[in-house]
Amino acid sequence: MSGVSDRAKSHNRVDAWRHIIAIILTAGCASACFRFSDEPEWVDSDTTMNAATSRGGVDGHSDSGEHESASTSEGSTDDGTTHGATTEATEDGDSSSTGDASGPPTECSDLDTLIATADCVGIRIGAAINAFAVEEDPRYVETFLREFGSMTHENELKWGSVQPTSDSWNYGPADTLVELAEQRGMFIKGHVLVWHRQLPDWVSEPMTADDLRAAMRANMEMTMHRYADRIDAWDVVNEAFEEDGTRRNTIFQRLLGDGYIAEAFRMAHETDPDALLYYNDFNIETAGWKSDAAYALAVDLVAAAIPIDGVGMQLHIDGDSYPDYYSPEDFRTNIRRFGELGLTVNISEFDVRVRDVPGTLEQKLELQRQIYFEFVSVCVSEPACDAITFWGFTDKYSWVDNTFGEDDPLLYSETYAPKPALDGVMEALRTSFQP
Ligand code: XIL
Repeated sequence: MSGVSDRAKSHNRVDAWRHIIAIILTAGCASACFRFSDEPEWVDSDTTMNAATSRGGVDGHSDSGEHESASTSEGSTDDGTTHGATTEATEDGDSSSTGDASGPPTECSDLDTLIATADCVGIRIGAAINAFAVEEDPRYVETFLREFGSMTHENELKWGSVQPTSDSWNYGPADTLVELAEQRGMFIKGHVLVWHRQLPDWVSEPMTADDLRAAMRANMEMTMHRYADRIDAWDVVNEAFEEDGTRRNTIFQRLLGDGYIAEAFRMAHETDPDALLYYNDFNIETAGWKSDAAYALAVDLVAAAIPIDGVGMQLHIDGDSYPDYYSPEDFRTNIRRFGELGLTVNISEFDVRVRDVPGTLEQKLELQRQIYFEFVSVCVSEPACDAITFWGFTDKYSWVDNTFGEDDPLLYSETYAPKPALDGVMEALRTSFQP
């Protein structure tokens, strides 16, 4: 287990109160306090304006299919100041993440893997992987073990995967991935406990609110207890908001109401008090109604002392909407405001689509390199941003092709050739500790 995870685990929730008071004393109250007490009424998703669509098709993914097959192919520092708990470069508490005045420690020069370089920055770097590829492709396994220090299951821990019927449990594929990550002592992030997609068919209406609560608790107890001391962090609730900031019309929202998110976090904390707990969503890295809604939620949860440690910003970026919609500076602003609440921020599902970007393949891949560089640079320069997870790492296996059309969104080509995107990530990491 890396120093980063230990540091993150010791993240102090009580600190959040200090930040809340600061917010109330500043102009931030105008927005935060208002949104806090004025959570939008339930609005049917079909009738709400879709801000993403109105901005030219910026969309995370389609919103149908609570029960689509789950088996489809496939912390900040205690003092909140810096990355670098794992290296001498930043252990002095310097807040710039650029290393001390004498330059980077010698073990940080000439590094050629993501994990070694990220360790010098003091940031976790990981990827989502899938059991299918692990079983069929030795090169996939070798590249993953060589480059990454953190692992997330792409599909294998989703509720529909682990509990296909109310009385049957299936942890084989999830175990395979946990055992693989443990070969390198990786940080493991569990994905995901409460999400409206890839649910089992039996989690559906008619079902009472109490039935749903009992089912959530049973799933958390079975899954989190199974991996207690092995899975370090969990995405507790995923994608609770529409693009216009209203609550998404899910079974959880319908049956349990606005309080379901707080309930889920309490339940998860009772089930595994040692796990770090995150809220996760897409397009909350941008400016707008949705990120404001996620921020208002975070203010609300922290003020109520709900056990939340951080927020995952997915960053499924469409290169064609950069930088107007996907703006690195808006990303920085969002990291900071969540950080001021005492929460960590992690990039949780990073990929960059380029099929709609005009130009030659070379130009598309150059823009992709730049986007990876810009967003990783923001994360490593912001103390609250403590981890980066890519949603896969080779274009050979990416959810993007099936969801948005054929593309090349990741760091390695289909034949595992390093892409300009990988250079962009490495350069951003190195720049953070090289003078
Ligand atoms: C995706 C997987 O990558 C696909 O294999 C699956 O078919 C659908 O789900 N946001 C999330 C992830 O939180 O769980 C989704 O993963 C991608 C979008």
